[in-house]
Amino acid sequence: MAKETLTVTDNRTGKNYELPITDGTIRALDLREIKTGAEDFGLLSYDPAYLNTASCRSSITFIDGDKGILRYRGYDVAELAEKSSYLEVAYLILYGELPTKPQIEEFSSEITVHTFLHENARRFIDGFRYDAHPMGVLIATVAALSTFYPEAKEIKDEKQRRQQVVRLMAKMPTIAAWSYRHARGFPLVYPDNHLSSPANLLSMMKRMAESRYQPNPTIERALDVLFILHADHEQNCSTSAVRTVGSSLVDPYSAVAAAAAALYGPLHGGANEAVLRMLMHIGSVKNVPAFIKEVKDGGGQRLMGFGHRVYKNYDPRARVIKKLADEVFQVTGKSPLLDIALELEKIALSDEYFIKRKLYPNVDFYSGLIYQAIGFPLDMFPVLFAIPRTAGWLAQWEEMLRDPEQKIARPRQIYTGHDERKYVPVEQRKA
Ligand code: ACO
Repeated sequence: MAKETLTVTDNRTGKNYELPITDGTIRALDLREIKTGAEDFGLLSYDPAYLNTASCRSSITFIDGDKGILRYRGYDVAELAEKSSYLEVAYLILYGELPTKPQIEEFSSEITVHTFLHENARRFIDGFRYDAHPMGVLIATVAALSTFYPEAKEIKDEKQRRQQVVRLMAKMPTIAAWSYRHARGFPLVYPDNHLSSPANLLSMMKRMAESRYQPNPTIERALDVLFILHADHEQNCSTSAVRTVGSSLVDPYSAVAAAAAALYGPLHGGANEAVLRMLMHIGSVKNVPAFIKEVKDGGGQRLMGFGHRVYKNYDPRARVIKKLADEVFQVTGKSPLLDIALELEKIALSDEYFIKRKLYPNVDFYSGLIYQAIGFPLDMFPVLFAIPRTAGWLAQWEEMLRDPEQKIARPRQIYTGHDERKYVPVEQRKA
């Protein structure tokens, strides 16, 4: 049988090294044995942006980017989107198995009773500028929650961890909805614990004078499906952030706030907002070819909602969302931007530039159109992403804490600066 090892010859010294291969990887630390002499620190691997580095072992989410497969705890995401609910999927992601009936009832009721925010947190939200971006409000308020629950610092206590997980899962939709109401100058709507979790979110965002808000069931279900599709995505930028920040053993509110901050960027959770802005900028189907040309000419313009670090095939979530968009548009009426999106997709999928680079629509290409049709403003899109991703962040945080191999995250660098220099007093420095 072939040996599961890698033989390396160091041509600087002529020495051979045999490195074990486990699960298709070599351990970066084994490279440190490769030295030119006793004074040598040993070989490092250089991997900016972690293009080819596994930073952990994880049993939560499986992605095969070439085949376009995404599974949570072994279950295909498309099947979960068809048959399950977001709360059930969150339970699966957090605790590893689909819940039994009593388990999901207990979990739902736990989440339901924790949806309210401390009144001081409400006052805190009131203090933001009248036009504050809701994502900034969300990040700050999540971080601020750590001051309300100082016991959250006890991250070695399993019971405490579970308690904060429930709180974060429950309060995230309330913070999200209130960040939106604040930016609109609308009165804040308190949670209605008789509603399902997506209906409650819609109620907190949309209710005005009515005594109870009852959403259209298609919209309620669409929101739940979008939440299933966004619940986890293994070691992406925000998940790596929650693991890195959490590895310092800070409380989970601070670690999740850091993850939400990472999600805010336009190359990550801000992409669906950027897709809508791009579609509005294109303005009409007839302008699509000129826009595609602009992208290909490389003037810094990207086709937002296309391409993915991991998927080199159609993003399986985009497939589900495209179908979902049809169902939502039957209720809300078709978005005028849909035709532009379809034309962009059609041209891009048959264009040499995109084929060669394996650029396919990702989860964000159509999700923004659905959110817009439901009546959510663009700046709420990343916030709506952060709500379900909280399940993934917390599951990954828990897994990181339980992993005996994990330590505080601390990468190395290749130093490219000056060698040692002597301090020069200010009056002797040259311009
Ligand atoms: N439009 C045009 N060209 C693109 C695009 C795009 N959307 N994405 C990648 N490319 C090109 C690059 O210019 C590069 O071309 P080159 O080889 O000629 O230089 C090549 O494809 C590879 O691109 P990279 O930037 O190296 O790919 P990377 O894996 O680093 O980036 C990313 C992935 C950030 C998602 C990128 O595809 C992108 O910017 N897409 C648009 C933003 C977007 O939709 N983000 C959402 C991602 S999904 C999520 O976070 C939920």
